Amino acid sequence: MAEELTPETPEEQEPIKQRKNGLYPGVSDELAESMKSGWADTELHGLEPIAQAEYTAARRTALSRQFPGDRLVIPAGNLKTRSNDTEYNFRPSTEYAYLTGDHTNDGVLVLEPTADGHDATIYLLPRSDRENGEFWLDGMGELWTGRRHSLTEAEQLLGLPAKDVRELAAQLAEATGPVRVVRGHDAGIETALNDKVTAERDEEMRVFLSEARLVKDAFEVGELEKACASTARGFEDVVRVLDKAEATSERYIEGTFFLRARVEGNDIGYGSICAAGPHATTLHWVRNDGAVRSGELLLLDAGVETHTLYTADVTRTLPINGRFTEIQRKIYDAVYDAQEAGIAAVTPGAPYRAFHDAAQRVLAERLVAWGLLGDLDVEKVLELGLQRRWTLHGTGHMLGMDVHDCAAARTDNYVNGTLEPGMCLTVEPGLYFQADDLTVPEEYRGIGVRIEDDLLVTEDGNRNLSGALPRRSDEVEAWMAGLKG
Ligand code: GLY
Ligand code: MN
Ligand code: MN
Repeated sequence: MAEELTPETPEEQEPIKQRKNGLYPGVSDELAESMKSGWADTELHGLEPIAQAEYTAARRTALSRQFPGDRLVIPAGNLKTRSNDTEYNFRPSTEYAYLTGDHTNDGVLVLEPTADGHDATIYLLPRSDRENGEFWLDGMGELWTGRRHSLTEAEQLLGLPAKDVRELAAQLAEATGPVRVVRGHDAGIETALNDKVTAERDEEMRVFLSEARLVKDAFEVGELEKACASTARGFEDVVRVLDKAEATSERYIEGTFFLRARVEGNDIGYGSICAAGPHATTLHWVRNDGAVRSGELLLLDAGVETHTLYTADVTRTLPINGRFTEIQRKIYDAVYDAQEAGIAAVTPGAPYRAFHDAAQRVLAERLVAWGLLGDLDVEKVLELGLQRRWTLHGTGHMLGMDVHDCAAARTDNYVNGTLEPGMCLTVEPGLYFQADDLTVPEEYRGIGVRIEDDLLVTEDGNRNLSGALPRRSDEVEAWMAGLKG
């Protein structure tokens, strides 16, 4: 990649808008003058609002009602350095994207209190100035980073007044009255608000925005459907290249799924877990640098994140050569039965915990039946939680813009709460026998199985958004055989 012309003297290091052309090495006055003009007007007119504009407006109204009289500040966040002068791909804060539909780094949504609610304004970096050289001499200039929307274009797209973000910090520093900010995304904004915010007030807003996402609106359900459909195609891609993965490593699987995610969506929604053989017993195996061997299982836990930042979270455990061995099938079918019991418990009005309890019971029953828990009966095992040596994790979680969505929701409204239509959650039981677990027969060791689907709670039960991918062991085998030709 090209290097920016780096200012060398303190004078050159002044913010770009204060610099005069000609300070850069190798930039003649004539070149600087030439770069100011000769550019066509590319302003876009008559833009249609983004598809979610009416939903983001309703979400801002709900936020406004919750905190009357307070100034509410929701930053997108800044670029994060990867190394030296390179940055990670930017992903805005979930709260900002949820309330605006915008994904621009350094953007900030502000809700100013009024007599009867709030006025919302989005603060963004405007198009680069050609006069002062910003657009081609500054690393944030459009010549380097690509064309941005003008503030007028952003207003049309987002349905919000837009202003220059470079004026915001000073405005906020001078503002009076109570302020709440979503923390952890924009240090500059937080510094400007330092003496106006309290941790308690900010936490209340964070909790509200997390709980607001517990029940998905129609737009969100549509996006989660798209995420699951793309993810299913990504899993099919992986099955088609398992021979190439065998010749290389788990990375071939990771790369194959990533290709689908980047072509059809924004990204992967979390680090893909491409765990072959005993790696399947490591819950968050994301190194993905191991061998892929015929006769072993592949646990693939991966999800496409849509362009609007909704992610799927799906796991399939697949026999790499297309056929389960006897012991693999025995363990797989136990997990399948546990998942079936869990899915059946996903119904409106049910306690959130019911699907977890149902799945854990099935797994405990199998572990007892297989003689892995001595003489203990199932009730005692569940009471003591002894099945957890091999089940390891909770059976699911809310899903949405964050893979572990609504993480700041209060316990009473989440794990101690009740399922409602519009909630979306994963059901993902698993059994994991570590390679060095001397308490199980040798044939179990190194086998890990998880099956994970994304369930939408409906008026009368649930809908499996990731149900396009087969789950039953015989159906998995038939599906793989079909894809491999
Ligand atoms: N992929 C993380 C999870 O399943 O929760
Ligand atoms: Mn997962
Ligand atoms: Mn999950």
